[in-house]
Amino acid sequence: MKFIPTGVARLDHALAGVVHCLRDLGRAMQSRDAASARGWACLLVQKLGEHFSDEEKMMLESRWPQANLHAESHRRVLLQFERFERELEQRGVIFDLSYQALVHLPEILRVHVITSDFGFAKFVTGRARPPFSHVAAYPGDARRSLARIPPSSATKTPLH
Ligand SMILES: [Fe+2]
Repeated sequence: MKFIPTGVARLDHALAGVVHCLRDLGRAMQSRDAASARGWACLLVQKLGEHFSDEEKMMLESRWPQANLHAESHRRVLLQFERFERELEQRGVIFDLSYQALVHLPEILRVHVITSDFGFAKFVTGRARPPFSHVAAYPGDARRSLARIPPSSATKTPLH
């Protein structure tokens, strides 16, 4: 996984450690070294949990308006990494888990950094204002968000 810095040293230092674990986990899976893979998976889950916890403290300290949504995303990501670690312990180095280690887990982390961490990094460094309250945080929130927009701003073009 290519490391993508957020521009916030505290986040990037921790993320670099997580990415290092992911790379070494991938190497252990490729060489079918189950003992090393288990060790790297354990360290990966620990480092990821610590990083998320520290990032959530930063979000609370800086009053990031989307802290709760971001923390929910952390929980979902961490669950997938923990599930991987459990399955590796039970099933060893098999194709499905190698695929997860080499493709799925790095992609989950990459997408989280791009879709969640970049926004927080811009906010905490003053490079962007917080998102407006009517902007949907999740696609499922769109209906509720639209309901808050006054009727005068609704489209008046008739549907054909
Ligand atoms: Fe995050």
